[in-house]
Amino acid sequence: MKYRIIFLKEENKDILKKLLEIHYNAFKKCGFRPWSYRDILDLFNNGFYIFYYISNNKILGFTIVNFSSDSNEIITIAVDNIHQNKNIGKALLMHVVNLPKLSGDLYLEVSVNNYQALNFYHKFGFNNVSERKKYYLICSGKNKGERVDAIVMKFIY
Ligand SMILES: CC(C)(COP(=O)(O)OP(=O)(O)OC[C@H]1O[C@@H](n2cnc3c(N)ncnc32)[C@H](O)[C@@H]1OP(=O)(O)O)[C@@H](O)C(=O)NCCC(=O)NCCS
Repeated sequence: MKYRIIFLKEENKDILKKLLEIHYNAFKKCGFRPWSYRDILDLFNNGFYIFYYISNNKILGFTIVNFSSDSNEIITIAVDNIHQNKNIGKALLMHVVNLPKLSGDLYLEVSVNNYQALNFYHKFGFNNVSERKKYYLICSGKNKGERVDAIVMKFIY
């Protein structure tokens, strides 16, 4: 599949609405509070980097990264539900890992029950480094009101 990974610039920020939709669909199975438009706009306005994956003029996934001089964090990677398992997440992750701008450590957090993401990150060189107890709140579904631990993972170069 021919694709491009594009850095989101101010003049294209209209597409944040599309990214929000992808995020909502990708994460709804987790039952966490869905991001609002304000949430994603704040990340963008606060200088977090957004890269989106586009193929045949369709946006199929994106990632948000917070770069800082010594410790970087992947805030999220989300791939459109019907396009998962087609190496789109891998392309986005490899794009981030290979960015010249990336120096220092690279971390992320995943809920302990998101096996799909845990497998995915383990496969690409992330190791578990610590846990954040009761970090995520479940806001919908049969486990509404419960809290879930997060696993902090670090990329091993
Ligand atoms: C997790 C996610 C980003 C992975 O992206 P993806 O495009 O579906 O995954 P890819 O096709 O790039 O998978 C790459 C590799 O990971 C493996 N992988 C992906 N999903 C997997 C799963 N459910 N179980 C085991 N391995 C898996 C694939 O086998 C693949 O290996 P390969 O390259 O040897 O074939 C995507 O599925 C997603 O958006 N999930 C919902 C949101 C989420 O949980 N995001 C991560 C937390 S921030």
